[in-house]
Amino acid sequence: METAPPRCRRRSCPPRAGRPRIQGVTIVQKWLVRRARLGRNPTVDRWFRSLVDGTGGQVVEIGCGVGLLFRYYPPTVGRVIAIEPDRASRLQARSVAAGLPQPVEVVDGGAGGVLPIADDAADFVVCPAVLCSAADPAQMVREIDRILRTGGQLRVLEHTLSGNRVLAALQRLADRCGWPRFFGGCHVSRDTEARLAGAGFRWLEVEHGWFTRAPFMWPSGPHVRGTAVRARDTADR
Ligand SMILES: C[S@@+](CC[C@H](N)C(=O)[O-])C[C@H]1O[C@@H](n2cnc3c(N)ncnc32)[C@H](O)[C@@H]1O
Repeated sequence: METAPPRCRRRSCPPRAGRPRIQGVTIVQKWLVRRARLGRNPTVDRWFRSLVDGTGGQVVEIGCGVGLLFRYYPPTVGRVIAIEPDRASRLQARSVAAGLPQPVEVVDGGAGGVLPIADDAADFVVCPAVLCSAADPAQMVREIDRILRTGGQLRVLEHTLSGNRVLAALQRLADRCGWPRFFGGCHVSRDTEARLAGAGFRWLEVEHGWFTRAPFMWPSGPHVRGTAVRARDTADR
């Protein structure tokens, strides 16, 4: 049984009333947590809502981090299985899940490229900024294809390669110069849309947006959010 990480003893990080302590997670997760908690970015809030709006039945969330998305799930979900390979994040996510009415089970997995879910078991697969971080994104897409039931939906909110050639070049440069190393494995120049299209997914709806205000974070600005289905599931309908 996993236990909570030891309490931080540094004077520089005192607990704040009403806020869970976030420890042992990546810089990017801390930044996301702070942003989401303070509700500073209404775009993030709206996109998180859209990401899970209309989900139901058996939902698999891949790479849940510290559980930022959990509170957005609608009451229609039967069960959410949230997969997170990082232990510290997983423990934090479990404590978030414990305080919510939605049934969310946080499990270990994914790191070896295999998701701990049976074939065709998911009505919805939710990817919140995880295809950018996976060591082998092509393998992850194959796993999504395996666990998604016929007619199931893939919900995606990911960094994406910009359509602007200058910004795309800056994104590629950032990844080559160590961006993933500083931001918990997060790559900003992956063309996730092309990857999904190549794997046989097509969008039911999609939107593009910009998620950062800090100038030094420009490479991480372009994002895509959308609902995709397998083209073969809908071919005869
Ligand atoms: C950029 S963080 C996003 C976290 C969270 N979804 C959020 O929006 O705050 C990427 C997360 O994906 C997880 N991850 C990386 N590779 C993974 C894999 N192969 N399977 C499952 N999760 C993975 C990381 O541990 C990390 O928590």
